[in-house]
Amino acid sequence: MRALVAEGRHDTVHALSRTGRTPVAGVGAHQVDIIDEASIARAAAAIAADGPVDLVFVASGILHERDIAPEKSFKALDPVALARLFAVNTTGPALVAKHFVPLMPRRGRSIFAALSARVGSIEDNRLGGWYGYRASKAALNQLLRTLAIEVARTKPEAIILGLHPGTVRTELSRPFRGGEAGAGVFTPDESVDHLLGVMASATPQQSGRVLAWDGSTIPA
Ligand SMILES: NC(=O)c1ccc[n+]([C@@H]2O[C@H](COP(=O)([O-])OP(=O)(O)OC[C@H]3O[C@@H](n4cnc5c(N)ncnc54)[C@H](OP(=O)(O)O)[C@@H]3O)[C@@H](O)[C@H]2O)c1
Repeated sequence: MRALVAEGRHDTVHALSRTGRTPVAGVGAHQVDIIDEASIARAAAAIAADGPVDLVFVASGILHERDIAPEKSFKALDPVALARLFAVNTTGPALVAKHFVPLMPRRGRSIFAALSARVGSIEDNRLGGWYGYRASKAALNQLLRTLAIEVARTKPEAIILGLHPGTVRTELSRPFRGGEAGAGVFTPDESVDHLLGVMASATPQQSGRVLAWDGSTIPA
């Protein structure tokens, strides 16, 4: 959020979060739970008053929660955990698209990007495990691809992207990333720099893809 404001590319910046608060000055704050469609619709209606939206960035997602841990085996599959992962990681961004893509301009460059993950790639799955997280991100990638095809018909300069940030030192990755140092492990600020760069150079021809932090395309 801070980096988007500092970039100065956007007249107004809005933060949507469960707390409805943002520490960043000059940013509009809206209370949204991504699994609550009414809260997304309310935020979209309020933001629409500022005119067309040229960037939507969905940065939410879960890998683990108090009662959810990534499955090491199919024996650990739990329907409640699976439903929760899909609700937050897949349905949530899709509902954000449902309410915010209509606010993107018909003409001119615009971006809808959602943080996905390399482990959502079916082709790239060599290690196994993390059934629910992988599947929820694979489904997210399919939704983004499908959205890109539809949106291209009416907004030819719009770009729909899944983004893989690399391994980032956040609460989400803390239990799984081992030591704090290491190649391909980034601070949140480094990750933001990478992803802003990827979005700045993305083209409509890349719409529907999942791009990694270095701009490379991740196979479906
Ligand atoms: N960290 C990594 O290494 C890594 C690698 C690949 C992909 N990713 C992806 O990057 C994204 C961000 O992950 P992160 O590392 O920044 O994780 P994080 O530090 O745990 O942050 C996750 C964010 O998602 C929000 N969130 C969770 N459930 C929500 C809900 N129901 N409604 C609204 N917001 C919700 C959280 O909000 P609260 O602040 O309210 O809890 C928090 O801001 C995720 O999609 C993740 O899959 C991360």
